[in-house]
Amino acid sequence: MTNPTIVAIDGHSSTGKSTVAKRLAKHLKFIYVDSGAMYRAVTLFALKKGCFDDNGLNEVSLINQLDDISIDFKFDNDTQKSQIMLNGENVEDSIRGMEVSQRVSAVAAIPEVREKLVALQREMGKKHSIIMDGRDIGSVVFPDADIKFFMTASAEERARRRYEELKAKGDATSYEEILENVKARDHMDSTRTHSPLVKTDDAILIDNTNLSQDEQFEKMLKMIK
Ligand code: CDP
Repeated sequence: MTNPTIVAIDGHSSTGKSTVAKRLAKHLKFIYVDSGAMYRAVTLFALKKGCFDDNGLNEVSLINQLDDISIDFKFDNDTQKSQIMLNGENVEDSIRGMEVSQRVSAVAAIPEVREKLVALQREMGKKHSIIMDGRDIGSVVFPDADIKFFMTASAEERARRRYEELKAKGDATSYEEILENVKARDHMDSTRTHSPLVKTDDAILIDNTNLSQDEQFEKMLKMIK
């Protein structure tokens, strides 16, 4: 059996990593793994268990409960989409709202959380060819990935895209609030001590501020091939 192929896509929030990754995976018949969804699911778990209060996140409480968290991806044949499961419950939608978005970077900064999720992610890459998107995929999870991309776009353009996406789902969060969240997460993700968001030297930079989704897809597909 040939070794599975690993495509790593890292970059800033709301750069459309998951959209292009899903499309590439479908085309190449690889498995798509949304590592951000895994950090979001842990954040939702922390919210449900009362690990957040007025003082922010109680890290010790969350760390003590990490063994109670089980995360899986289930492929839904009807929608042809993969859904993230937290302890057997489909949380694909509930992890996308602002309540989680505003807290996920604090959760993702905890080394014990990262250790658990990185181990899970590496397991996934052993059996199948995968496309995984996130912040540390090319730098930490799969430093030997076959190809690495680093995606970025202006903060304003990214906030505009996220605003449209949430609006279509009936979420009334304002553009200003989203822009603030995009900038706050950029800052936290890039300056944290553990596995900060960095572009590795061997990653291909894709600035998609002015690229259409089709242009970006074709460009990346060509490079992978
Ligand atoms: O979709 P979006 O770009 O908004 O973010 P995401 O991929 O859902 O990731 C949410 C958050 O999880 C990020 O802002 C990071 O704080 C964290 N994350 C991480 O630390 N490492 C990863 N591999 C993926 C996400």
